[in-house]
Amino acid sequence: MSKGKFYLTTPIYYPSGKLHIGHTYTTVAADVLARFKRQTGYDVKFLTGTDEHGEKIQEAAQKMGLTPKEYLDEMVSEIKKLWEAMDISYDIFIRTTDEEHKQRVQNMFQKLYDKGDIYKSEYEGWYCTPCESFWTEGQLKEGHICPDCERPVYLAKEEAYFFKLSKYQDRLIKYFEEHPEICSPPSRKNEMVNNFLKPGLEDLCVSRTSFDWGIPVPFDPKHIIYVWFDAVSNYITALGYGSENEELFNKYWPADVHLVGKEIVRFHTIIWPIMLMALELPLPKMVYGHGWILFDADKMSKSKGNIVYPEPLIERYGLDAIKYFLLREFTFGQDGNYTNRNFINRLNSDLANDLGNLVSRTVAMIEKYNGGIIPEPEQSGEFDEDLKSVATSASEKIETAIDKLQFHEGLEEIWKVIRRTNKYIDETTPWILAKDDSNRQRLNTVLYNLADCIRIISVLIKPFMESTTIEIWTQLGIDDGQGTEWKDTFSFGRIPTGTKVRKRDVLFPRLDVDKEVEALEKMGETQEEQEDAVIIESKEQITIDDFGKLELRVAKVLKAEKHPDADRLLVLQLQVGNETRQVVSGIAEYYDSEQLIGKNLILVANLKPVKLRGIESHGMILAACNDKELVLGTVDRDIASGTEIN
Ligand code: ME8
Repeated sequence: MSKGKFYLTTPIYYPSGKLHIGHTYTTVAADVLARFKRQTGYDVKFLTGTDEHGEKIQEAAQKMGLTPKEYLDEMVSEIKKLWEAMDISYDIFIRTTDEEHKQRVQNMFQKLYDKGDIYKSEYEGWYCTPCESFWTEGQLKEGHICPDCERPVYLAKEEAYFFKLSKYQDRLIKYFEEHPEICSPPSRKNEMVNNFLKPGLEDLCVSRTSFDWGIPVPFDPKHIIYVWFDAVSNYITALGYGSENEELFNKYWPADVHLVGKEIVRFHTIIWPIMLMALELPLPKMVYGHGWILFDADKMSKSKGNIVYPEPLIERYGLDAIKYFLLREFTFGQDGNYTNRNFINRLNSDLANDLGNLVSRTVAMIEKYNGGIIPEPEQSGEFDEDLKSVATSASEKIETAIDKLQFHEGLEEIWKVIRRTNKYIDETTPWILAKDDSNRQRLNTVLYNLADCIRIISVLIKPFMESTTIEIWTQLGIDDGQGTEWKDTFSFGRIPTGTKVRKRDVLFPRLDVDKEVEALEKMGETQEEQEDAVIIESKEQITIDDFGKLELRVAKVLKAEKHPDADRLLVLQLQVGNETRQVVSGIAEYYDSEQLIGKNLILVANLKPVKLRGIESHGMILAACNDKELVLGTVDRDIASGTEIN
């Protein structure tokens, strides 16, 4: 019988870049929670999706020369592929560009407007495009830097709609006091109360006019609904709220858990609950803001080139290894540091040594000492009771840990059983028992107990690493239904006797730490090179006649001086045949004057003269440049200056 419903969500991710190990972390945690709840008898709805509106997406699409829709379809399909590779068991995948979502968000906006909780006014504030967030002056770093992503903000001023957060502030404070779990773990609650609620909430600007990629305000369509209003609404629009059929909504809302990273807790525990209060709907039971995964103690970012992607790790080490590592290594709720060495060490110690060894030793002993058949337990002895009590008492502790979202504690409880069982082998020494026929009955019991402990372990790890569970069942020779349900972990002796075990490959091979760390570092470098690869956006084709209009000549640098009025410019004197040319060029950041003397550059000689900051420039020198570097074009060998290039 179902224990009731359980609705959980991940953030809906921006499809403006490739998702990395951080996004994977949240989604894996949600997936394990969903699987665990299903396994323990709940009727689960698990939602994930993509947040597809806003300036950032519009800009990303433009950069690639695509329409937002073309761009998004491609990116979303990549995200779905990743979740498929990660075997994420979501029930709903929402895209905020779904027609139904858009209509439902408009209905919500209209409802709040009609109620007087949304009103029109004018907005001036500091806006961060990558975070799609407005900040007050006091919140900025160094007066102009976004406190979240540390990129520059800009001053935006526009006519806008506002949502009356202030009206609900006292109700929210009271709600926080009465339902502390709404903002978990407790450290996040203190942060929200001290940083936002106590200083007082200002009304929130919930529309934009500076771009158009979003959901229009239904009664004033030149305004686009603020992307965070649009985004958080997904948690109920996906269940049909605001549509004709609200059956799912009525069944599953309120959410049992919204899992989010710590940087978006503010949107989920202040704006979202107040939206729900204004709509007169119940609030989510828990918003859990977990910590960040850092790379070598640094925030992962594209510009630092330190992003870890899950795909190559899955390919090299298998899905279960990654999932296990993510949830075992880091304390959910706190920041954690990813290093390649910790990753490999963890796989070796916990998966290869503890779990892998236990299974392969046990199966090998059953084969060797009992022809591969799980024997009847016949004679109990020392250590049995302790073993059984450790094995059958784990499930309750795991339930407690997972209900608090302490996945690492849950796994540690399972590993206590694994380590206890390994110790049982050393204590009972089956290889010595096997030497004397009079120990046959005791040996049978020991083998049976080992097999049954592994059965319990295989069920306990199932929400975390299902394919390992199934592989263990294959090796034990049991099928789903033979002591494999969660309730079967509370009692001993459920594995059927007489089944035939099958020795197969080790579950997790032992890895050479140094070799693997080196390989992972290399993989990181290759990936960086691939990311840096220049994407060619071709220009319109030209004819040879078009090209013939250019007069390119070899020009030797005679002199180079700083421009008196511009730090970025150098004033060059160039020898071009029998002529001396003056060219002003924006290369001062990349070349010292002395470095340039004597170089044979390529000059566009027939460019009309212009004045740059008051100094005449006649012609232009060629250079290769991107956002990081600039390199001047030169000719391969010495040749007389003035020679034409064609
Ligand atoms: O914020 N460590 O989307 P997003 C741990 N669209 N988790 C990380 C992480 C890291 N280094 N990096 C990312 C958005 N995450 C909005 C959400 S919800 C209504 C709208 C995870 O693509 C973490 O869960 O920037 C974080 O909150 C989320 O990805 C941000 O994803």
